Amino acid sequence: MKIDEISRNLENIETWSLKDSRDRGCKRWSVYPPDVLDLTVAEMDLPIAEPILEVVTDAVRRQAFGYPIPDFKSGLPEIASNWLSGQNLKVKPSQIRMIADVIKAMVLALRHVGDTSGPVAVITPTYSRFLDAIEAAGRRPLEVPMRHSQGRYELDFDALDEALRKGATTVLLCNPSNPVGRKYSAAELETLSEAIDRYNVRLISDEIHAPLTYGGGFIPYASISRTAAQHSITLTSASKGWNIPGLRCALVILTGDGDAEMWDSLPRAAKGGISPLGIEATKAALEHGQPWLDSAMRLLDRNRNLIYEKFARAGHPEVLDLPESTYLAWLDLNSLSVTDPSKYLIEHAKVATTPGEEHGRAGTGFVRLNFASPTAIIEDATDRIVSHLGKNALA
Ligand SMILES: Cc1ncc(COP(=O)(O)O)c(C=O)c1O
Repeated sequence: MKIDEISRNLENIETWSLKDSRDRGCKRWSVYPPDVLDLTVAEMDLPIAEPILEVVTDAVRRQAFGYPIPDFKSGLPEIASNWLSGQNLKVKPSQIRMIADVIKAMVLALRHVGDTSGPVAVITPTYSRFLDAIEAAGRRPLEVPMRHSQGRYELDFDALDEALRKGATTVLLCNPSNPVGRKYSAAELETLSEAIDRYNVRLISDEIHAPLTYGGGFIPYASISRTAAQHSITLTSASKGWNIPGLRCALVILTGDGDAEMWDSLPRAAKGGISPLGIEATKAALEHGQPWLDSAMRLLDRNRNLIYEKFARAGHPEVLDLPESTYLAWLDLNSLSVTDPSKYLIEHAKVATTPGEEHGRAGTGFVRLNFASPTAIIEDATDRIVSHLGKNALA
């Protein structure tokens, strides 16, 4: 089946093959030898949504390869404002700016927003680039590990308070969390916002995984109160939900008074790199991408349950908490009793995962597994991992 036919026929979303993914020539499936299942970088083995393919193909035909149209002429802030209001986040188009990618925005915010003299409190385990972004901004990280209790991770407010007492002036939140898949509750976000307010610091909330929340219920940080909206900056993008990170377009949501003006005053050289194709693709995703996303979520839901049940049935329920969001499984492989579980799995199970330590010190003994692949691949990869857990348990 041709790629555009697969994309049109949502019921056949799983007819995508690994050959199709390899033919993309992107990072995933290009790094490891052919016998290794690559479940690392957050790209999905799924056809791109038809509305996105259509606008990008049209843009290619029109040779839309110039510089990007300015934010206020692009129509994207209006579409994004409408999309965000569906998540109960009320923002005016004039409070939304485009940028090439979320991490670039994070570095810029860490350099320029609020008091940047102190360290950055980063809730861990977290997406590895958060730690890179802190370094790129010339600031020092203070890791704030989450607490793990009764089969789920929770924000640890004592640990956060300690970091704030030590002088942290910015807090980094990944909501929902990559890698642990938590969508934080209103109560958690309210308590978090009280702490941020008490210490009069700023919070950056990366909400790039919000579209990938199972059963809905995602709560944007800035939506919980006027106070939270004032002290936070929200970063998001269609790049994870619709699998288009190579198209180079993300969004900065500036809900604090004066923040949009402050953002506009930052050096233009640090904000470049947005692609006209990315603007078109993001508009199509936010306006017309929900049916595709619903279909993709059904596959991801099946995969997350399959992995969860396989570990539980094998007598290892401790390995995975069922993710509430994202297509990432955060696997506790301490029972393997090896120093580097990721390396071990590549060598012995021919499964590539992302090493846990990249997500902060709290990640030691863990790996992150990307389950956005045909179910047969995920089943095979999980069986391989389970068989090694069994071996070590017997050893
Ligand atoms: C939480 C999170 N933020 C940011 C990114 C990267 O986004 P971008 O390519 O827009 O920098 C990722 C990619 O996986 C992610 O998981």
